Amino acid sequence: MDLSTRYLGLKLSNPLVPSASPLSRSLDMARRLEDAGASAIVMYSLFEEEINADEEKLDYIMHHQDIGHDEADSYLPAHGDYKTHLEEYLEQLAALKEALDIPVIASLNGISASGWVEHGRELEKAGADALELNVYYVPADISRSGPEVENLYEAVLRNLKQHVSLPITMKLSPQFSSPGHMVRRLEAAGADGVSLFNRFYQPDIDMETMQVTPRLQLSVSAESLLAMRWIAILYGRVKLSLAATGGIHTGADAAKMLLAGADVTHMCSALLKNGPDRLRNVLTELEAWLEENEYESVEQLKGSVSQIHAEHPAAFERANYMKVLESFEAPPGVWR
Ligand SMILES: Cc1cc2nc3c(=O)[nH]c(=O)nc-3n(C[C@H](O)[C@H](O)[C@H](O)COP(=O)(O)O)c2cc1C
Repeated sequence: MDLSTRYLGLKLSNPLVPSASPLSRSLDMARRLEDAGASAIVMYSLFEEEINADEEKLDYIMHHQDIGHDEADSYLPAHGDYKTHLEEYLEQLAALKEALDIPVIASLNGISASGWVEHGRELEKAGADALELNVYYVPADISRSGPEVENLYEAVLRNLKQHVSLPITMKLSPQFSSPGHMVRRLEAAGADGVSLFNRFYQPDIDMETMQVTPRLQLSVSAESLLAMRWIAILYGRVKLSLAATGGIHTGADAAKMLLAGADVTHMCSALLKNGPDRLRNVLTELEAWLEENEYESVEQLKGSVSQIHAEHPAAFERANYMKVLESFEAPPGVWR
């Protein structure tokens, strides 16, 4: 069985790639993921806010030491003693490259097309095999139009491309009026891949304290269907690499994404819930499914139920909406 796949110009031994998560903060965990069969790994993100905060702090340290406030100086770390998030990230990236044989994809997270993006160059020098750019943007400013938000995504990508020659993939939210068009636009701007979809974490209200609290819940398999539809619609219509992220917990979840047209299937929640060995089980399940269904390779499977190849292409569109509503069977005891 040939499980290999191509992603961002990299030849990978199989399509299972752990997505950005705290698991890549530990070398031991990363090695365990590689041993379980991970074909590449995406690192946790380095955030624009972290880079900017470090730059401000370093400015502050230098300024206050320069003007010689003796007493204050003794509380401040010397410039050379202060390790920035960027330095820590570069060290972890270099250590992961040293410890692993699989490709390591670094991840940047931010929204402005400003100076922080230049640090992409340092990630490239530290040995990253590709970059994932996650523009986690919540357009809470309601005076900002959809096209303005789309421009923002493109501007960050174009800016980053000026500083690195690595393949760049963009992790996107599903919240565009036309997600497929947005992907095409980013491809035209030089993206080598997209990762569909970024998961927005919703704030909650604590009923005891009446405070807004952040809430992070791990995913379930059913969530994968959103990305599956869009990957199926995009397959064969764009040339860039397609990664599926969100709700991939089983071999069947991964197989569906590949049938829709994904080049790789990311895993995060399943690994956080069950540990790194879960990846081996998913790989075994995927391989068994391929064998049962007489596929010889992942390449052969890829896109065979995408919109352009599906027997009922309209099932990926509005046509399915009425049918789905009509097909609803109320379980016993439920009103309809
Ligand atoms: C604890 C945690 C940390 C995460 N950290 C990052 C991150 O640093 N950068 C990023 O792009 N995505 C991050 N993600 C998102 C995951 O990579 C993934 O896209 C998302 O959880 C959906 O996939 P899943 O259903 O397999 O969990 C994180 C998710 C979790 C649960």
